[in-house]
Amino acid sequence: MNSMIEIKRGGETVGRVVFGAGTDSFEEVLGHCGHIYLVYDRAVERYANALSSSCRIESAYALDNVGEDIKTLDTVRDICRWLMENGADRGATVLAVGGGIVSDMAGFAASIYKRGIRSVYLPTTLLAQVDAAIGGKTGVNLDSYKNMIGTFCQPEYTLICPEVLASLPVNVFADGLAEMLKTFIIDNGPDSDRVGRMLDAVEDIKMQDRENQHVGVISDAFARLIEEAASVKAGIVSRDEHEKGERRLLNLGHTFAHAIEYCANSAGSHAQSGVSHGEAVAIGLSMAARLSEAIGLAKPGLADMIDRSLGICGLPCRCPFPLGMLEDAMKKDKKSDEGKVHFILIEDIGAVTDRLMDVHEALEALGNNAMPLK
Ligand code: GLY
Repeated sequence: MNSMIEIKRGGETVGRVVFGAGTDSFEEVLGHCGHIYLVYDRAVERYANALSSSCRIESAYALDNVGEDIKTLDTVRDICRWLMENGADRGATVLAVGGGIVSDMAGFAASIYKRGIRSVYLPTTLLAQVDAAIGGKTGVNLDSYKNMIGTFCQPEYTLICPEVLASLPVNVFADGLAEMLKTFIIDNGPDSDRVGRMLDAVEDIKMQDRENQHVGVISDAFARLIEEAASVKAGIVSRDEHEKGERRLLNLGHTFAHAIEYCANSAGSHAQSGVSHGEAVAIGLSMAARLSEAIGLAKPGLADMIDRSLGICGLPCRCPFPLGMLEDAMKKDKKSDEGKVHFILIEDIGAVTDRLMDVHEALEALGNNAMPLK
């Protein structure tokens, strides 16, 4: 039996996150979607094929070598052109199957094609299931700047099937753990320690015999945590869809993360590149905790505890770039305003707060409490 979480706007339901037992359990939902145009990551073709058995696909568009470097306006233009050439009308649906890069681009194309058509996502990574595919942020990068162009446009449905995570490479799964940990640091649950339950579930997954470094079986406990993380995000988005206040909390760790990704991707970078988004978020969480300690907001020990949690998840916590390099990148972040940025800081697990701070002053404070940074 499918369960469902609603995304609201002013009391009206504008999107639904549906949890299914398998990719074949969404027949009823897809039956309401009119003509379906499938955009998928060729690496997960089997899920796209499985979905095709539950609904009629008008046309399919495969994306190869999915990564940040194809998350561009050119790719979105190609998707729009394919929609047009294949007769997609205003009643059509774009169905995106893949990770967050696929849903961000396909969702963006859907939001601008003929001034907006319906989108539905089937996220195939943990990161997309708990974060990217929920909440309606769509977009592409501009040069090395992440998500600089985009829209807010809610997918009509996000179809979540934890089973598809079983075949994920361990490092890709870990990227999603960074976003999940972020979500539970923001909301640790009214009467249960979500962070603790998450780390226990991760330890259980690590105990499995793995073939080819794949995740293996997703336990019911872990599937439940995916639902809780999705529910936390859906609640925040319903209260602040356009990120004027509470939704900023979801950027915990991301101000640092985007700067780290920018430094990693910039031409001429002297440090090793190839930092994934999840790894950058993990390092960003550690830095946010250290900054919180440095300004006296959090008790000493919080950052070490977060670093240990990241270690259990197989994630890094050390920044590979000097703080001066991050400063330049942070000032260019789309959310920076005259050198000031909303830093999301951690008072304690389950209690985070938004502080507008001067980037230079924040990094100076961090520099004085930067034990684990190079
Ligand atoms: N990924 C953060 C947000 O959707 O607001």
